[in-house]
Amino acid sequence: MKVVDLDRREASISEFFDKNRQMLGFDSPQKALFMTVKEAVDNSLDACGDLGILPDITVKVTEIEKERYGVEITDNGPGIPRKDVGNSFGKMLFGTRFFVERQSRGQQGLGISAAILYAQKTTGFPAEITTKTESDMTAYKIVLEIDIKKNEPLIHSTEPVIWDVKSGLKIYLVLKGKYITGKQSVEEYIRETAIANPHASFHLYLPDKTVEIGRSVEEISPIPNAVKPHPYGVELGDLISIFREHESEDVQHILENNFSRMTKQSAEEIVKKSGLEGLSASSLKQKDFEILLKTIKNTSFMEPRKDCLSPIGVDALYKSAIASFSGFNPAYFSQPVIRGPFVYSGHPFLTEAIAVYGGDLPKEEPIKVLRFANRVPLLYQSGSCAITKAVSSLSWNQYGFSQPIKDQLPVGPLVVVIHVASTKIPFTSEAKEAIATVPEIMDALDTLLKGIARQIKTMKKKEAHKMQVEEKFSLIEQILPEIAIKSSKILGKSPPNIKPIISKVMGVVAFREIEGELYAENFTEKVQSFQVVLRGEEEHRQKVKDLKPFQKVKLSFSREVVGSSEIYADLPESILLGAYSLPEVFKNE
Ligand SMILES: Nc1ncnc2c1ncn2[C@@H]1O[C@H](COP(=O)(O)OP(=O)(O)O)[C@@H](O)[C@H]1O
Ligand SMILES: [Mg+2]
Repeated sequence: MKVVDLDRREASISEFFDKNRQMLGFDSPQKALFMTVKEAVDNSLDACGDLGILPDITVKVTEIEKERYGVEITDNGPGIPRKDVGNSFGKMLFGTRFFVERQSRGQQGLGISAAILYAQKTTGFPAEITTKTESDMTAYKIVLEIDIKKNEPLIHSTEPVIWDVKSGLKIYLVLKGKYITGKQSVEEYIRETAIANPHASFHLYLPDKTVEIGRSVEEISPIPNAVKPHPYGVELGDLISIFREHESEDVQHILENNFSRMTKQSAEEIVKKSGLEGLSASSLKQKDFEILLKTIKNTSFMEPRKDCLSPIGVDALYKSAIASFSGFNPAYFSQPVIRGPFVYSGHPFLTEAIAVYGGDLPKEEPIKVLRFANRVPLLYQSGSCAITKAVSSLSWNQYGFSQPIKDQLPVGPLVVVIHVASTKIPFTSEAKEAIATVPEIMDALDTLLKGIARQIKTMKKKEAHKMQVEEKFSLIEQILPEIAIKSSKILGKSPPNIKPIISKVMGVVAFREIEGELYAENFTEKVQSFQVVLRGEEEHRQKVKDLKPFQKVKLSFSREVVGSSEIYADLPESILLGAYSLPEVFKNE
């Protein structure tokens, strides 16, 4: 949507959205309650993020009477000066994020005013906003409505109130809603929000329960910087509007000043190649813009800057997944994968993902895809979203999953968390429910998902091998000796020497825990010398020399070190694999 165009018809904007509230996602009482919480919480997270505050957010939903709910969201953000409350909350298309290229949840100044508009239309109650800024001595409570005809705030009252916090903002609305639990509920929204915002904590007071979600990381993600558009991907229309805004300047200057990664040299070169030397913007014709754009696309530039994006990050994503999914006792967390930043239409974006596999996750159901755009969970319109489409179009059969229907989600105990971050997410509608299938984003998602699926395939292979080796162990330790004794009794002979059979079957040096100590045991036919490497937070090495067949040696690694480490040995591969697959045995204890 072009903000500039709508601004010119500003007077009718509230009326327009009032009549078309489904465009903003307020199409049923159930969805309206959800959207109200979402818009307020998104704003709280944005406000905290802008200032580098660790968010602490309280959400209260109370049933006042049938289909009528009170919704109150309180944050510990910077608050907002009381003189700005009217415009920010009582006027559509008023926001602080229009002309900056920077990752944030809100983009158009539509969110919270849409919720206020819906509330006042369905119950007649005005909005109550309480704000406390650090520089104000006291907090202020402002009661307001939106004057729909004028798209102006109608302030009922402003009064000082006591609110004993450094800073923060509280909004209370009464609206026609329907409270649900489970899928697409307020609770699901907050739980998923917590996954993508592990630095935030939430207190939820819902009609049927209270939920506390603590933060799983204590570090604030760096505040994203605002940047100018990157030259690659800028479309003709964008180019023309940028030049219109600077009619009196010359072409080279406009290029230099309005694009990121545009050096003086490249601007000079572009102007020369396009035959526009010394010309001012006002003298350019449509044809010139076309040539200019073509030249820009054929010039090389540095990658877009990353610091305008705010990825969840490898460490935080890992910790967050562990905190959120450990209830399922998963067998495996993948390493988080990040792809990007790349560019589409001049906007940098990146993708990141982590997978959680096995344990108590359902085995017979389609895998679960958690979609996020700029750290906001997307719970609606899954079918038309780029993320779902990218997941479905991967050939999961190649990665050991059954995919009964081509281009549909595969089946298995898997959750994939996928985040697309951009200075401008290409949503399919104003309700910001699904990401459009922009080719550049689809490509990035495809390689991202392959990176995740490959890890799971490798893990499954290791798992299968480990099971094989474990089976062999039970064979040599219980079944074979018994067979030997029984058959020797039947034949009336002394028990045979089964060691050669064991080493044929096993062919590995195994690492096993026996009574709390770690041993290397040679189940091969040869004398083995090798180095054992324990790789965890620290690395430990130990040399083992001349371990004879069926001999075992106690290793000297301390128990504390062993617990969270992986074990390797510099043995030929077949043996290494066997050995490798066993540390789980002692890890489990
Ligand atoms: N919890 C909050 N704390 C501080 N400022 C807020 C808060 N909620 C809203 N605002 C201000 O109100 C503006 C309008 O919010 P909104 O209508 O949701 O638009 P958007 O989020 O797209 O900017 C925001 O840009 C922000 O400046
Ligand atoms: Mg918003």
